[in-house]
Amino acid sequence: MKITVVGAGAVGATCADNIARKELASELILLDIKEGIAEGKAQDMMQTATLLGFDTKVIGSTNDYTKTANSDVVVVTSGLPRKPGMTREELIGVNAGIVKGVCENILKYSPNAIIIIISNPMDTMTYLALTSTGLPKNRIIGMGGILDSARFKYQLSQHLGASPSDLNALVVGGHGDTTMIPLISKATWNSAPVTDFLSDEQQQQIVADTMVGGATLTKLLGTSAWYAPGAAGAALVEAIVRDEKKLFTCCVLLDGEYGQKDIALGVPVIIGKNGWEKIIDFKLNADEQAAFDKSADAVRNMNDVLKTL
Ligand code: LAC
Repeated sequence: MKITVVGAGAVGATCADNIARKELASELILLDIKEGIAEGKAQDMMQTATLLGFDTKVIGSTNDYTKTANSDVVVVTSGLPRKPGMTREELIGVNAGIVKGVCENILKYSPNAIIIIISNPMDTMTYLALTSTGLPKNRIIGMGGILDSARFKYQLSQHLGASPSDLNALVVGGHGDTTMIPLISKATWNSAPVTDFLSDEQQQQIVADTMVGGATLTKLLGTSAWYAPGAAGAALVEAIVRDEKKLFTCCVLLDGEYGQKDIALGVPVIIGKNGWEKIIDFKLNADEQAAFDKSADAVRNMNDVLKTL
């Protein structure tokens, strides 16, 4: 198994570090356009191999795509991260050109790769990757909902005094501060509905804090977060390479599912060796469906900006 992570910034390097520790591949390429950064981080990671006990060979490269040849899975993190006060959507102009170029280069050397998009605005970058490459839809997966769901579980755990791993909760819709939809009506603490234990006020607070989870961290850190985004990317890679059939929310091309078409948006899917293999119908209630449609409108407006670039 060979995996490539494009972009050796904080998210890409953390994702690569998780992939190496989990030994998901024999070879892991970390690539960046900035001279020396990928080589440096790869070497630093390799020097943890004996300390952490992994055998994955991590190789860094400054923009040499021949090194990525025959990758099974490629994670794209390239592009600018957001700064405090910025929305993910404001990155579209710069990141669209970068993501399109990266996908072209990747496919030149790894025509069969499954591509995971992390670059922002993620829903639109996933749609761009789908339309610009023409790849079968199952091989392009946007990473957002899995991260937002992890943040949702964190918020729930704080209010419930629960272990996050005892919680089951999903966020669907877009990966934007106003477009994501934490499905609190369906969230459970082991099998009990979380709504049995939380006041209406607490529920609203949890939903609101989840939606601005990324923005809150950007404010604290001065740049976009990396531990959870990197771990979420690696969890997706793991589900693919181990053919786990895990159910995660991912951004995928919809063709009538959840009432939407010609748009990539976060829905529950099964992840396995073929990429995303099946969309699961979570039977949204009327309010959730209305929020999903509103989210789709906002993402579609963003996708329309691609035509003007
Ligand atoms: C975040 C970025 C990865 O939500 O979109 O932290």
